[in-house]
Amino acid sequence: MKDPNDQTEYSSMETVAIRGVHLPDPFRALNPPLYQTSTFTFPDMESVDQVLGGHESGYVYSRGGNPTVSRFEGVISRLEGGEASRAFASGMGAISATLIHLAREGRKMFFPRYIYSGTRAFIHKFLNQWGVPVHWFDPRETDWLESLVSRLYHEAGCVFVESPSNPTMDILDLERLSRACRQEGAVLVVDNTFASPALQTPLLAGADLVIHSATKYLGGHGDLLGGVVTGKSDWIKSLAMGEGSFLGATLSPFNAWLLLRGIKTLFLRMEAHSEKAMALSSFLSGHPKVNAVHYPGLPSHPGHEMARRQMKRFGGMLSFDVGTASRARLLADRLKLVKIGVSLGDPESLIEHPFSMSHRWLDPKERSDAGITPGLLRVSVGLEGAEDLIRDFDQALSEP
Ligand SMILES: Cc1ncc(COP(=O)(O)O)c(C=O)c1O
Repeated sequence: MKDPNDQTEYSSMETVAIRGVHLPDPFRALNPPLYQTSTFTFPDMESVDQVLGGHESGYVYSRGGNPTVSRFEGVISRLEGGEASRAFASGMGAISATLIHLAREGRKMFFPRYIYSGTRAFIHKFLNQWGVPVHWFDPRETDWLESLVSRLYHEAGCVFVESPSNPTMDILDLERLSRACRQEGAVLVVDNTFASPALQTPLLAGADLVIHSATKYLGGHGDLLGGVVTGKSDWIKSLAMGEGSFLGATLSPFNAWLLLRGIKTLFLRMEAHSEKAMALSSFLSGHPKVNAVHYPGLPSHPGHEMARRQMKRFGGMLSFDVGTASRARLLADRLKLVKIGVSLGDPESLIEHPFSMSHRWLDPKERSDAGITPGLLRVSVGLEGAEDLIRDFDQALSEP
């Protein structure tokens, strides 16, 4: 007999991704219900007092919380190994709310030079304007961690990183960085979008908060925008009751439902993305018209050994350089199967030219500081057959 109230906490994350956090359902539906509602009603004023007074739990208004969204948050907490999560309408919703919250705690902010262009734009347009102390560091310098620690010393700090970074594919030693941050009393935030929890769990390496653009691998189908932050319950609760509710970037119940569906195949998809990205990066690295390939799965990548230690696989993202902007643009135009687009993590392979697209609006000095060369192209390797992808790049590269 199947127990409809089975509350077993499965230990395999593949099982958690499929089964989710189990809540009893009177109709024994295989899939979770979609609570597509803006508000929740009360039977009487006494129960209003119970819920709003904090004596009983209950949903009030979907900007503050919604059962379908809570289910998504619960699954992410399990997959990332965190106590609690808060979902947002987009990755930038999660990043902006988190950075504002940390700035309100009076923290000095530290960012690596190689970071997603939207995060960089938020720092420039908001944190700098508001006078929040912002410092940059270069993780490609050999003594970067020592120099970061010397600047963190005795300060309430926040270090915000990506590994692998978008689009340069830099790998940071998350365990060493976590240890250093802990010693100096700094909060470590890791944007785990490129790896997803199927390949890497930064909280288990000692980070304090993990952020995702759920738009990417968590959703996995290019049909939604979403974001999420995971960490300790108290901190997440304070985020939820502050920026999480009042900046208004709340995840919609429908997108939470799509995310729950997408996550069921996350582990399988990440395995396939990684396999195809490895095949394509090996092809590209042997091509005479390609100057450099940045994929952590290649033994030639400077972060290869570190990635082997801290990631289960190397993921579906790679970037490579063909020397000049005109060659890069021509190559993007000549690809037939691979489409031009700025997103990533979808079944369809996408290519973007950061110089003309994601980093177009940066001034030239800032763009080169961020590691964006004119000939750099970033590929989100999809789930198509590897032979077709390689054939497409081969034909695009072989034209004179
Ligand atoms: C690493 C990374 N973080 C955050 C974001 C922002 O996410 P969203 O587009 O969902 O706001 C992106 C988007 O490309 C990203 O690549």
